[in-house]
Amino acid sequence: MSVHISAKKREIAKTVLQPGDPLRAQYIAEHYLENYKLVSKTRNILCFTGSYKGKEITIGASGMGCPSIGIYSYELYTEYDVDTIIRIGTCGAYTENLKLFDILNVDNAASESTYAKYAWEIEDEIIPHQGKTFDVISQAGKDLNLNVKSANIHSSDVFYRKTPGTPAIATKYNCPAVEMEAFALFANAKYTGKNAATILTVSDIIPTLEQISADERERALRTMMELSLETAVKL
Ligand code: HPA
Repeated sequence: MSVHISAKKREIAKTVLQPGDPLRAQYIAEHYLENYKLVSKTRNILCFTGSYKGKEITIGASGMGCPSIGIYSYELYTEYDVDTIIRIGTCGAYTENLKLFDILNVDNAASESTYAKYAWEIEDEIIPHQGKTFDVISQAGKDLNLNVKSANIHSSDVFYRKTPGTPAIATKYNCPAVEMEAFALFANAKYTGKNAATILTVSDIIPTLEQISADERERALRTMMELSLETAVKL
Protein backbone atom coordinates (compact mmCIF):
# COMPACT_ATOMS: atom_id res chain seq x y z
CA MET A 1 0.00 0.00 0.00
CA SER A 2 1.32 3.46 -0.90
CA VAL A 3 -0.12 6.91 -0.29
CA HIS A 4 -2.25 6.86 -3.44
CA ILE A 5 -2.49 3.14 -4.32
CA SER A 6 -4.20 0.65 -2.00
CA ALA A 7 -2.95 -2.60 -3.62
CA LYS A 8 -0.81 -4.94 -1.60
CA LYS A 9 2.78 -5.05 -2.81
CA ARG A 10 2.56 -8.47 -4.49
CA GLU A 11 -0.66 -7.46 -6.29
CA ILE A 12 1.18 -5.21 -8.78
CA ALA A 13 3.07 -6.79 -11.71
CA LYS A 14 6.59 -5.79 -12.79
CA THR A 15 5.15 -4.37 -16.01
CA VAL A 16 2.41 -1.75 -15.88
CA LEU A 17 0.36 -0.35 -18.75
CA GLN A 18 -0.83 3.12 -17.86
CA PRO A 19 -3.73 4.76 -19.72
CA GLY A 20 -4.83 8.18 -18.46
CA ASP A 21 -8.47 7.20 -18.06
CA PRO A 22 -9.49 4.75 -15.31
CA LEU A 23 -12.37 3.42 -17.43
CA ARG A 24 -9.92 2.62 -20.18
CA ALA A 25 -7.88 0.61 -17.68
CA GLN A 26 -11.07 -1.28 -16.86
CA TYR A 27 -11.83 -1.81 -20.56
CA ILE A 28 -8.38 -3.31 -21.21
CA ALA A 29 -8.63 -5.58 -18.17
CA GLU A 30 -12.12 -6.77 -19.17
CA HIS A 31 -11.28 -7.36 -22.82
CA TYR A 32 -7.75 -8.74 -22.67
CA LEU A 33 -6.72 -10.03 -19.25
CA GLU A 34 -7.43 -13.43 -17.78
CA ASN A 35 -8.09 -13.91 -14.07
CA TYR A 36 -7.90 -10.18 -13.50
CA LYS A 37 -8.58 -8.49 -10.20
CA LEU A 38 -9.23 -4.88 -9.20
CA VAL A 39 -6.27 -4.19 -6.89
CA SER A 40 -6.72 -0.46 -6.19
CA LYS A 41 -9.56 2.01 -6.57
CA THR A 42 -8.30 4.87 -4.43
CA ARG A 43 -9.70 8.13 -5.88
CA ASN A 44 -11.26 5.99 -8.64
CA ILE A 45 -7.82 5.60 -10.22
CA LEU A 46 -8.58 1.99 -11.09
CA CYS A 47 -5.78 -0.54 -11.16
CA PHE A 48 -6.18 -4.17 -12.35
CA THR A 49 -3.75 -7.07 -12.37
CA GLY A 50 -4.22 -10.19 -14.48
CA SER A 51 -2.47 -12.23 -17.11
CA TYR A 52 -2.08 -11.82 -20.86
CA LYS A 53 -0.68 -14.78 -22.82
CA GLY A 54 0.64 -16.13 -19.53
CA LYS A 55 2.42 -12.92 -18.46
CA GLU A 56 1.33 -11.05 -15.34
CA ILE A 57 0.49 -7.44 -16.21
CA THR A 58 -1.01 -4.55 -14.28
CA ILE A 59 -3.18 -1.96 -16.01
CA GLY A 60 -3.36 1.14 -13.83
CA ALA A 61 -4.61 4.62 -14.69
CA SER A 62 -2.41 7.71 -14.42
CA GLY A 63 -4.99 10.50 -14.45
CA MET A 64 -4.26 13.60 -16.54
CA GLY A 65 -1.17 15.78 -16.57
CA CYS A 66 2.39 15.62 -15.26
CA PRO A 67 1.49 16.04 -11.57
CA SER A 68 -0.91 13.09 -11.65
CA ILE A 69 1.23 10.62 -13.62
CA GLY A 70 4.17 11.86 -11.55
CA ILE A 71 2.52 10.58 -8.37
CA TYR A 72 1.27 7.22 -9.67
CA SER A 73 4.37 6.27 -11.64
CA TYR A 74 6.69 7.22 -8.78
CA GLU A 75 4.78 5.11 -6.28
CA LEU A 76 4.68 2.17 -8.72
CA TYR A 77 8.44 2.34 -9.30
CA THR A 78 9.49 2.91 -5.71
CA GLU A 79 6.86 1.23 -3.50
CA TYR A 80 5.84 -1.65 -5.78
CA ASP A 81 9.21 -2.39 -7.45
CA VAL A 82 7.71 -1.97 -10.92
CA ASP A 83 10.38 -2.30 -13.64
CA THR A 84 8.57 -0.92 -16.66
CA ILE A 85 5.70 1.49 -17.25
CA ILE A 86 4.23 1.93 -20.72
CA ARG A 87 1.93 4.92 -20.97
CA ILE A 88 -0.82 4.45 -23.56
CA GLY A 89 -2.73 7.58 -24.48
CA THR A 90 -3.97 9.94 -27.12
CA CYS A 91 -2.38 13.03 -28.63
CA GLY A 92 -3.29 16.01 -30.77
CA ALA A 93 -1.27 16.54 -33.95
CA TYR A 94 0.14 19.99 -34.65
CA THR A 95 0.62 19.07 -38.29
CA GLU A 96 -1.47 17.60 -41.09
CA ASN A 97 1.49 15.32 -41.82
CA LEU A 98 0.04 13.09 -39.13
CA LYS A 99 -3.35 11.46 -39.65
CA LEU A 100 -6.08 10.37 -37.25
CA PHE A 101 -5.37 6.88 -35.88
CA ASP A 102 -1.60 7.16 -36.47
CA ILE A 103 0.34 5.40 -33.71
CA LEU A 104 3.45 7.05 -32.24
CA ASN A 105 6.25 5.48 -30.23
CA VAL A 106 7.63 8.42 -28.23
CA ASP A 107 11.36 8.94 -28.57
CA ASN A 108 11.72 12.11 -26.44
CA ALA A 109 9.25 14.24 -24.49
CA ALA A 110 9.78 18.02 -24.45
CA SER A 111 8.02 20.24 -21.97
CA GLU A 112 7.82 23.68 -20.36
CA SER A 113 6.79 21.79 -17.20
CA THR A 114 8.87 22.42 -14.07
CA TYR A 115 8.15 18.86 -12.89
CA ALA A 116 11.57 17.33 -13.60
CA LYS A 117 13.44 20.36 -12.30
CA TYR A 118 11.62 20.65 -8.99
CA ALA A 119 11.25 16.92 -8.39
CA TRP A 120 14.69 15.65 -9.40
CA GLU A 121 16.81 18.67 -10.30
CA ILE A 122 16.74 17.49 -13.91
CA GLU A 123 17.04 20.79 -15.77
CA ASP A 124 16.51 19.43 -19.28
CA GLU A 125 13.55 20.60 -21.36
CA ILE A 126 13.57 17.29 -23.21
CA ILE A 127 13.85 13.80 -21.70
CA PRO A 128 14.17 10.55 -23.68
CA HIS A 129 12.21 7.33 -23.17
CA GLN A 130 14.09 5.18 -20.66
CA GLY A 131 15.48 1.67 -21.22
CA LYS A 132 14.85 -0.81 -24.02
CA THR A 133 11.05 -0.75 -24.07
CA PHE A 134 10.99 1.74 -26.98
CA ASP A 135 12.88 -0.78 -29.13
CA VAL A 136 10.59 -3.62 -28.05
CA ILE A 137 7.56 -1.51 -29.07
CA SER A 138 9.12 -0.89 -32.51
CA GLN A 139 9.71 -4.60 -32.98
CA ALA A 140 6.24 -5.55 -31.71
CA GLY A 141 4.77 -3.02 -34.15
CA LYS A 142 6.61 -4.67 -37.05
CA ASP A 143 5.52 -8.13 -35.89
CA LEU A 144 1.89 -6.91 -35.89
CA ASN A 145 2.30 -5.26 -39.32
CA LEU A 146 1.54 -1.85 -37.87
CA ASN A 147 3.00 1.40 -39.12
CA VAL A 148 4.31 2.73 -35.80
CA LYS A 149 6.09 6.07 -36.15
CA SER A 150 8.85 7.18 -33.79
CA ALA A 151 8.43 10.82 -32.80
CA ASN A 152 9.23 13.45 -30.24
CA ILE A 153 6.22 14.67 -28.30
CA HIS A 154 5.30 17.90 -26.55
CA SER A 155 4.05 17.17 -23.01
CA SER A 156 2.02 20.29 -22.31
CA ASP A 157 0.65 21.50 -18.99
CA VAL A 158 -2.23 23.20 -20.77
CA PHE A 159 -5.03 21.86 -22.91
CA TYR A 160 -6.74 25.21 -23.59
CA ARG A 161 -4.67 28.22 -24.62
CA LYS A 162 -5.18 31.84 -25.74
CA THR A 163 -3.02 31.69 -28.87
CA PRO A 164 -3.57 28.83 -31.31
CA GLY A 165 -0.75 27.30 -33.32
CA THR A 166 2.33 25.30 -32.44
CA PRO A 167 4.04 26.43 -29.21
CA ALA A 168 7.71 27.39 -29.44
CA ILE A 169 8.98 24.36 -27.51
CA ALA A 170 7.28 21.98 -29.95
CA THR A 171 8.94 23.72 -32.89
CA LYS A 172 12.31 23.82 -31.10
CA TYR A 173 12.35 20.08 -30.45
CA ASN A 174 10.58 18.90 -33.59
CA CYS A 175 7.46 17.62 -31.83
CA PRO A 176 4.62 16.94 -34.30
CA ALA A 177 2.05 16.26 -31.57
CA VAL A 178 1.02 17.07 -28.01
CA GLU A 179 -0.13 15.17 -24.94
CA MET A 180 0.25 15.90 -21.23
CA GLU A 181 2.12 13.13 -19.35
CA ALA A 182 5.16 11.51 -21.01
CA PHE A 183 7.67 14.08 -19.71
CA ALA A 184 6.94 13.35 -16.04
CA LEU A 185 6.90 9.59 -16.61
CA PHE A 186 10.29 9.72 -18.35
CA ALA A 187 11.68 12.00 -15.60
CA ASN A 188 10.60 9.57 -12.87
CA ALA A 189 12.07 6.61 -14.73
CA LYS A 190 15.32 8.46 -15.33
CA TYR A 191 15.63 9.39 -11.66
CA THR A 192 14.74 5.91 -10.36
CA GLY A 193 16.72 4.02 -13.04
CA LYS A 194 13.61 2.27 -14.37
CA ASN A 195 12.12 1.68 -17.82
CA ALA A 196 9.49 3.88 -19.41
CA ALA A 197 7.91 4.23 -22.82
CA THR A 198 4.86 5.94 -24.29
CA ILE A 199 2.59 4.84 -27.12
CA LEU A 200 0.10 7.40 -28.44
CA THR A 201 -2.77 7.33 -30.91
CA VAL A 202 -3.49 10.56 -32.79
CA SER A 203 -7.01 11.47 -31.70
CA ASP A 204 -7.22 14.96 -33.15
CA ILE A 205 -5.56 17.12 -35.80
CA ILE A 206 -5.32 20.53 -34.20
CA PRO A 207 -5.08 22.77 -37.34
CA THR A 208 -8.14 21.20 -39.02
CA LEU A 209 -10.13 20.39 -35.84
CA GLU A 210 -10.60 16.81 -37.11
CA GLN A 211 -11.24 14.34 -34.32
CA ILE A 212 -11.75 10.63 -33.89
CA SER A 213 -15.48 10.26 -33.26
CA ALA A 214 -16.81 8.62 -30.13
CA ASP A 215 -17.81 5.57 -32.22
CA GLU A 216 -14.35 5.21 -33.75
CA ARG A 217 -12.49 5.70 -30.49
CA GLU A 218 -12.84 2.15 -29.23
CA ARG A 219 -11.57 0.57 -32.45
CA ALA A 220 -8.74 3.10 -32.73
CA LEU A 221 -7.53 2.56 -29.22
CA ARG A 222 -7.73 -1.25 -29.43
CA THR A 223 -4.78 -1.29 -31.87
CA MET A 224 -2.64 0.63 -29.39
CA MET A 225 -3.83 -1.56 -26.50
CA GLU A 226 -2.86 -4.71 -28.40
CA LEU A 227 0.54 -3.23 -29.31
CA SER A 228 1.22 -2.42 -25.64
CA LEU A 229 0.13 -5.88 -24.48
CA GLU A 230 2.25 -7.64 -27.10
CA THR A 231 5.18 -5.45 -26.05
CA ALA A 232 4.65 -6.35 -22.39
CA VAL A 233 4.77 -10.06 -23.26
CA LYS A 234 8.20 -9.56 -24.91
CA LEU A 235 9.75 -7.71 -21.93
N1 HPA B 1 -3.66 18.61 -26.26
C1 HPA B 1 -3.15 17.97 -25.21
N2 HPA B 1 -3.33 16.68 -25.00
C2 HPA B 1 -4.06 15.99 -25.89
C3 HPA B 1 -4.62 16.61 -27.00
C4 HPA B 1 -4.39 17.99 -27.19
O1 HPA B 1 -4.87 18.60 -28.16
N3 HPA B 1 -5.30 15.66 -27.69
C5 HPA B 1 -5.15 14.49 -27.01
N4 HPA B 1 -4.39 14.70 -25.93
